[in-house]
Amino acid sequence: MQFELVNVEKVYQASEETKVYGARNVNLKIAESDFMALVGPSGSGKTTILNLIAGLILPTLGTLRHGTSDITALSLEERTKHRLDYMGFIFQDYQLLPILTAAENVEFPLQLKGFSQGEIKDRVTWALAQVGLETMGHRFPKQLSGGQQQRVSIARAIAGKPQLILADEPTANLDSKTAQEIIELFKKLNQDYKLTFVFSTHDQRLIDQVKTVHYVKDGQISETRTHHA
Ligand SMILES: Nc1ncnc2c1ncn2[C@@H]1O[C@H](COP(=O)(O)OP(=O)(O)OP(=O)(O)O)[C@@H](O)[C@H]1O
Ligand SMILES: [Mg+2]
Repeated sequence: MQFELVNVEKVYQASEETKVYGARNVNLKIAESDFMALVGPSGSGKTTILNLIAGLILPTLGTLRHGTSDITALSLEERTKHRLDYMGFIFQDYQLLPILTAAENVEFPLQLKGFSQGEIKDRVTWALAQVGLETMGHRFPKQLSGGQQQRVSIARAIAGKPQLILADEPTANLDSKTAQEIIELFKKLNQDYKLTFVFSTHDQRLIDQVKTVHYVKDGQISETRTHHA
């Protein structure tokens, strides 16, 4: 099912008198197995667009669609469930829970989704193996390197086999060699399992690997380029 932003505008009320455009007239279609990046300077609106796709914020104008459903028509509770059912998230700073082990971090959203204990065990084992951490499930985040922590967060994002993975500057905190390995991992997951990724990034090596680049400027998609393999 396709995710879509249709003529979306997001105006932030920065103070009583100041309004800021986070997104303006954004039209974006995300099809199954897409591998795309939002690229633009700081403050251009990349995170705003990711948050709109996720339904974490609602547009001031326009519509968010998933298949034939209109996400803007859902209640807050329904949007939360929709996100849990269909999406996985990866962040620049990993966002792992420090009091949970790597395996428990991967498990956490699966528990919320209500999978059976057997299914959870299988999925955690599968996801940790995909990211090369099959032997490190018992470690806590602080016992792992930055690259390993990002692998745990990738395992958490893919364990539910979501229709869409949103990754906000996923390589920004990593050294160059580790960033390269993580990019290769994203590519493999996209190729092997047709997992759909939308990145926000400044990382040229990631930009070089995606199929589609949307350049974001002042809240608008100013240009789109597609790589032909
Ligand atoms: N909650 C908010 N309230 C007011 N203004 C906001 C809010 N969130 C974002 N903005 C503004 O909206 C614009 C877009 O911000 P956004 O965070 O989407 O940019 P970005 O491209 O992700 O930047 P960065 O590369 O620094 O992460 C900026 O001008 C920002 O100051
Ligand atoms: Mg951002």
